[in-house]
Amino acid sequence: MEVVICATPDEVARVAAAKVARVLRDAGPRAVLGVATGSSPLALYAELAALAASGRLALGEVSAFALDEYVGLPYEHPESYHSVIDRTVTRPLGLDPARVHVPNGMAADIAAAASDYEAAIKTAGGVDVQILGVGSNGHIGFNEPTSSLASRTRIKTLTARTREDNARFFPTLDDVPRHCLTQGLGTIMDARACVLVAQGEAKADAVAALIEGPITAMVPGSVLQWHPHATIVIDEAAAAGLT
Ligand code: F6R
Repeated sequence: MEVVICATPDEVARVAAAKVARVLRDAGPRAVLGVATGSSPLALYAELAALAASGRLALGEVSAFALDEYVGLPYEHPESYHSVIDRTVTRPLGLDPARVHVPNGMAADIAAAASDYEAAIKTAGGVDVQILGVGSNGHIGFNEPTSSLASRTRIKTLTARTREDNARFFPTLDDVPRHCLTQGLGTIMDARACVLVAQGEAKADAVAALIEGPITAMVPGSVLQWHPHATIVIDEAAAAGLT
């Protein structure tokens, strides 16, 4: 696991974008990008968008797979991850919407939607580089504490802490969905490279446990210690808990 500590959140975005861009270029025009929602990667997406706009990164044929989606939130809802990915990734990066995939949290058969998603990732050739954030409880994707380290895409119940963390995107806490469809930790670990970004002191405990703690289902992101090509890019505030 490579850990890069940056002076500022802006530098986190630049360093992480440079890493992602390098992997995408090496993988060729039809590279497969794994994308996360949430606040952490937004500046990184803006950097990638700038690289694409200036012609330094070709993204027209790149495919993308989102990590997760709320269950039961219609696609058109502004906080569905279909909407969020469209707004923060597909449009700014100029990706072909037909090549951008988000789990189907509205499926009548959620188990079938989960295995279809796994199959779609496989058909695309697997993820070349997966962008990740980390929850304050150590989750990656929506793999909450106690998630199996070998888990695949499936339905999960969101913890009270994650629902509180995400309540800022909804009118009230009650409006935050209770379930999600998320890539599993085993699915994420299949990506050929992972780049996780975290900024701010609210992430310091999760970052310290992820990087320096034992590999445990209680800190799902700690599984990245096993990944052969995981890069953690954090600012000084998020690094405050490291020894
Ligand atoms: C969402 C996801 C989550 C977030 C995490 C951090 O697709 O994968 O693991 O990355 O909850 O969220 P932010 O970045 O909003 O603090």
